[in-house]
Amino acid sequence: MSTATPSVIVERDGPVWHVQINAPERRNALGRAVVEGLAEAARAVAQEKTVRAVILSGAGEKAFCAGADLKERRGMAEPEVRAFVTLLNDTFNLIAGSPKVWIAAIQGACLGGGLELALCCDLRVARDGASLGLPEARLGIIPGAGGTQRLPRLIGVARAKELVLTGSRVDPVEALRLGLVNRVAQDHLAGARALAAEVALCAPISLTQAKRAVDLGGDLPMEAGLRWERACYDVTIPTRDRVEALEAFAQKRKPDFKGE
Ligand code: COA
Repeated sequence: MSTATPSVIVERDGPVWHVQINAPERRNALGRAVVEGLAEAARAVAQEKTVRAVILSGAGEKAFCAGADLKERRGMAEPEVRAFVTLLNDTFNLIAGSPKVWIAAIQGACLGGGLELALCCDLRVARDGASLGLPEARLGIIPGAGGTQRLPRLIGVARAKELVLTGSRVDPVEALRLGLVNRVAQDHLAGARALAAEVALCAPISLTQAKRAVDLGGDLPMEAGLRWERACYDVTIPTRDRVEALEAFAQKRKPDFKGE
C-alpha cells in the first residue's frame, strides 16, 4: 500500500486500484488536501498501462463524500473560492477523462460535489441506505463541478432538473431507476470489486478506446459519431493485446493482456 497524501489512500491490487478519500471526520468532504490527493492519484493511475479499473470510495460508514468542505470554504475570500472551484474542476476532469475505468463505490452521503465526483466515474455502485443529491441551490450556489452538465447527459434533462432545482435526495432504489447508479449492493465495496473484476477481463487499450468512443462521441451527430468510433477502433488494430486475444481464443485459454 502507498499513501499519496494522508487525505487520499491509494492501494493497488493487480489490475484494479483502490483510491479512498480518507477524511471520515468531515464525511470525506472535498477540502484542498483531498482534492490535491485525488489529482495525484488520477495522474498516477493514468501512467500504469496494465491497470484496468479504479474503485473510488470514501472512508468510514457515513459518507462517500459530503461535497464541498463547508468549513474550509467559510474561511475563503471570493477569489480563493473561484481558484478552488477551478482546481476542483481540473481534478474532476482528470478523473472523467482518465484512460482507466473509474467505479464509484457509494455508501452514506453522496451529496453536492460528492455526487459530482461520482458522476465523473464511469460506473457507480451504491450501498443500501446511501443518499444521493445536489443540495447546492439550497446553499445559495449551484452545482459547480459538472453537476448541471454531467447529470442531464447521464439521466436526461427532466430528471436532472428535478434533482438540481429541488436539492432533494434520492435513495439507491430511486437512483437505480433513474439510471444514476448501475448497481445497488448490500456491500458497496464488494459490489464495486465484482464490477471491477468484470472490467478487468477486458484489454486495457480496448477499455481506454471504448471509453473515448462513448464519452467524446456521444454529443456528435450520428455520422460523425460513427467516424469517431472507427477512429477509436483503429487504435486497437495494431495492438499486441488484439493478437493475444485471437491466439488465446484459438488455444482455448484466457488472454494475458499487457496493455500493448
Ligand atoms: N464540509 C465540512 N464538514 C462537514 C461536511 C462538509 N460538507 N459535512 C459534514 N461535515 C462535518 C460536520 O460538520 C461534523 O463535524 P463536527 O463533528 O466537527 O461537528 C462531522 O462532519 C459529522 O457531521 P454530521 O452532520 O454530524 O454527520 P452525519 O453522519 O449525521 O451527517 C451529512 C452527514 C453529510 C448528511 C451531513 O453532515 C450533511 O448534510 N452535510 C452537509 C452536506 C452538504 O450540504 N454538502 C453539499 C455541499 S455543496
